[in-house]
Amino acid sequence: MEVKIGKLSDFPEGKMKKVFAQGKELLVVNIGGNLYSIDDICTHEECSLADGFLREEVVTCPCHLAQFNVKTGAVVQRPATGADIESEPTFKITVKGEEVFAEV
Ligand code: FES
Repeated sequence: MEVKIGKLSDFPEGKMKKVFAQGKELLVVNIGGNLYSIDDICTHEECSLADGFLREEVVTCPCHLAQFNVKTGAVVQRPATGADIESEPTFKITVKGEEVFAEV
């Protein structure tokens, strides 16, 4: 279902933000004026990716430095422990005027 998660101005370019929708925790990122979203909870040991670091389209988990592509959810780098991890689910983001919606 489509859920309103904020206004366009809540998601400045080059930044990431955690939002809650339908009991899910989403990481929303603005890259070059386009919004993307993956699950905020790291698939390794459940740290919040919003507390990590964003560089271009890759987010680094603050806990053990796993990396995910925020456009696709794909694992870019395993955690420092070497564990195998799942990719992150992605969520479709739609902008209508000034309002931002996520499909969750
Ligand atoms: S919890 Fe994210 S890398 Fe370990």
